[in-house]
Amino acid sequence: MTLSLHPPKAYLNHAGASLMPTTVRQAMLDHLTRESVLGGYNAADAMASELDAVYRCAAQLLGCDTDEIALPTGNASGWREVLGCMDFGPGDRLLVARSEWGGNYAALTHIAQRTGARVEMIPCTADGTLCLSHLAQMIDARVRLISLTWLPANGGLIQPAQQVGALARAAGVPFVLDAAQALGQLPVDVRQLGCDVLTAPGRKWLRGPRGTGLLYVRRDFMPQLKPRTVDQFTAPYRDGAYHLRADAKRFETSEACMAARLGLGVAIRHTLNLGVETIQAKVRERAERIRHALSAIEGVQLQDIGTERSALVAFTVDGLPASTVRAQLMAQGVDVAVNGLSFTPLDMAARGLTDVLRASPHTDTRDEEIQALVSALTHLIHLH
Ligand SMILES: Cc1ncc(COP(=O)(O)O)c(C=O)c1O
Repeated sequence: MTLSLHPPKAYLNHAGASLMPTTVRQAMLDHLTRESVLGGYNAADAMASELDAVYRCAAQLLGCDTDEIALPTGNASGWREVLGCMDFGPGDRLLVARSEWGGNYAALTHIAQRTGARVEMIPCTADGTLCLSHLAQMIDARVRLISLTWLPANGGLIQPAQQVGALARAAGVPFVLDAAQALGQLPVDVRQLGCDVLTAPGRKWLRGPRGTGLLYVRRDFMPQLKPRTVDQFTAPYRDGAYHLRADAKRFETSEACMAARLGLGVAIRHTLNLGVETIQAKVRERAERIRHALSAIEGVQLQDIGTERSALVAFTVDGLPASTVRAQLMAQGVDVAVNGLSFTPLDMAARGLTDVLRASPHTDTRDEEIQALVSALTHLIHLH
């Protein structure tokens, strides 16, 4: 059966899941063929050096060493693996910014309920950016974690991750950085950022497949993380006992979709070849064009915060729920995302928002796609 697919006129949800380059898709298809002909294990053996190379590319992209990289199945899976290895107790303080990713906030709230720790919000400046001087004042011996979402799921904001890292390092507080919307969009150097842990999915700005992710854990931070359980992969059997691996693969499982991993490797190389600075400049330029165009439409409100803006453009339409707008835009072939309260609950509640629309272009977003968004929005506002 041949697939009959109708691509949207405008795909503006690269922050959700971007479109894979043909080379990524081909690498996956080739490996699926290999698996179906040779068997899964033999296929992996045949591609062993390419599979190893995925870790090397990932380390190059992040500015770390290969043994500090694990390949989880997404952002949350890596983040959870690490948080699950940390011990918290009554009175411990876990700090987040107002724009923390809802999934992390949910997990931290759950940890707090179980352990008696407290999740505290770092105050922000008038434009929504985390306030560094407040953070410096908040840090004391009871602060056991700073969890920062570098680029929130919507709203344009870019948090000062490197400055937060410097404060965390100076105080010896573990710093976990969610780079889900940053990796592939901004240059990332984990040593400069001063983070102990960084997480990102493959499917967003890196344009890799779904079900892939990157997890960086600083080598010297690894001994502080105590896994609740191990298996034959994370703690290989040697000399009559199981020994926890020294590298970040201790956060992986032995079973994984190798086709997706190979696809991720190709996506990372694609990003490295294009150059992250080039990608950053292009996506910003397109996002600014979208902001400019939307600000000229009566009835559309830009909902971006921050001063330096990412390529995630948030907006609302007066009098219309975001889900209605999205459905009507989709009917006209324009794909944007809806972010509800659960994505950035603290930020949305503080700003009195219940949902926003999010348009996110990538390097190859065409002028016609931006124009299609503008026309479709103008059309639907006239209808209502
Ligand atoms: C900032 C941020 N963090 C985390 C995630 C969750 O990523 P995943 O679904 O790969 O776990 C998202 C997803 O949109 C996100 O935007």
